[in-house]
Amino acid sequence: MSSLEDLIPIVNKLQDLVFNTIGTDTIDLPQVVVVGSQSCGKSSVLENIVGKDFLPRGTGIVTRRPLILQLINLPFEASSSLDDASDSISSMQTSRRPEEWAEFLHVPGRKFYDFSEVRREIENDTVRIAGNNKGINKQPINLKIFSPHVLNLTLVDLPGLTKIPIGDQPTDIERQTRSLILEYINKPNSIILAVSPANVDLVNSESLKLARQVDPQGRRTIGVLTKLDLMDHGTNAIDILSGRVYPLKLGFIGVVNRSQQDIQINKSLPDALKAEQEFFRTHPAYRNISYRCGTQFLAKSLNNTLMAHIREKLPDIKARLNTLMGQTQQELASYGEPQFAGSENRGILVLQLMTRFATNFIASIDGTSS
Ligand code: GDP
Ligand code: NA
Ligand code: MG
Repeated sequence: MSSLEDLIPIVNKLQDLVFNTIGTDTIDLPQVVVVGSQSCGKSSVLENIVGKDFLPRGTGIVTRRPLILQLINLPFEASSSLDDASDSISSMQTSRRPEEWAEFLHVPGRKFYDFSEVRREIENDTVRIAGNNKGINKQPINLKIFSPHVLNLTLVDLPGLTKIPIGDQPTDIERQTRSLILEYINKPNSIILAVSPANVDLVNSESLKLARQVDPQGRRTIGVLTKLDLMDHGTNAIDILSGRVYPLKLGFIGVVNRSQQDIQINKSLPDALKAEQEFFRTHPAYRNISYRCGTQFLAKSLNNTLMAHIREKLPDIKARLNTLMGQTQQELASYGEPQFAGSENRGILVLQLMTRFATNFIASIDGTSS
C-alpha cells in the first residue's frame, strides 16, 4: 500500500460484496452525489469528469433512476496481465486491445468496450424498471468504468429537480424527486456536488437549497458553477468563485461544458476540455484563478476530498469490519469443514472472500494510519 488512494479499489470491492450479501447499508462509505435542477449540466459535468461520452442526454427528464458510477483506475500494466493464458497469442497479435471498459451489475460477466452501448444499456434498463412514461424509480443502476484515465471515484447521478410535471409525470413528481435526492445526500458521509448554472441567480439554486437542508454548515458540499460561457456580456462570477457570495467550506469551482451546439456538431471531449482551459486562461476575469477552475481541477478536488473523508472515517469503518469479520468467522465455523471442490454453496465462498478483503483492508488501514 503506497498511498491512501490505493484503498479506494478495496473499498469499492468491499462495497460490492456487502451489497451482494448483506445489503447496501452495512458499510456506509463515502460517495459523491451530483445534484441540480433539470438541464443545469449534471450529465455534462459527469461525462467530463469521466472523460467519456456515455450518458443518455436530451431535453426533459432523461435520468429517471439513480446511476451509481464507480470509476476504477486501472494501471496500464494490469490490462495485459488480465488476459487469459489461453489467448495470449491472439493478444500479442492484437496489442491494440481496448484498455478501458464498463460493466453493469445487472449484466454480469459482460464487458462493454463501446461506450455508446453503455448509453443504450442505461436507456434500456431505465425503461425496463421505470417504465416508458416520464416517471422516476428509486432502484439504482450500478455501473463501473475501468480505465487508466480516471481517478478513483464513486459518483451518483440523480434525476434533476423539476417544479412542474411534464408529459404523463405524476403530479407529485417534485416531491418524489426531492425525497429520492434527500435519501442519498442525507448520509452524513456523502459528498454533495451541488451544480448551479451561472446564468441563473444563485439565490434560486435548487441544489444549494437542498444541500443546505442536510449540510447547513456547508462542510461536505462542493459548489459547481456551469455555463460560465453563457453569462451576460460584461458580467462574471468571480465573487461566487471566490467564496464571497455563498459560504461553502469546499468552495465553488467553475466549469464550461459543451453547449447544445457543440453536441450537435459532435465536438469531442478532448477538444471540449482544451477549449475549457483556453476559456479560463484567456478570460480577463478568470485568468488569475484559472489554475483552480475547470473540469480537471474539479476531478482532482473531488479525489482529495474523498480521500480526506475516508481517512476521517477509517476508525469507524475498521470497527464495523472487525464486527463483520467476527460474525463471518462464526458463521463459517457453523458450516463445519468447507468442501471446496464442486461445492454448490456459493455463500461460503462469498463469505470467505469477504473475510479476505476485510483482513486485507484492515491490514492496509493499520499500514497507513501511523
Ligand atoms: P442535466 O439535465 O443537468 O444533466 O444537463 P445536461 O448536461 O444534459 O445539459 C443540458 C443542456 O445544457 C445541454 O444542451 C448542454 O449542452 C447544455 N450545457 C451544459 N453545460 C453547459 C455549459 O457549461 N455551457 C453551455 N454553453 N451549455 C451547457
Ligand atoms: Na438536470
Ligand atoms: Mg442529465
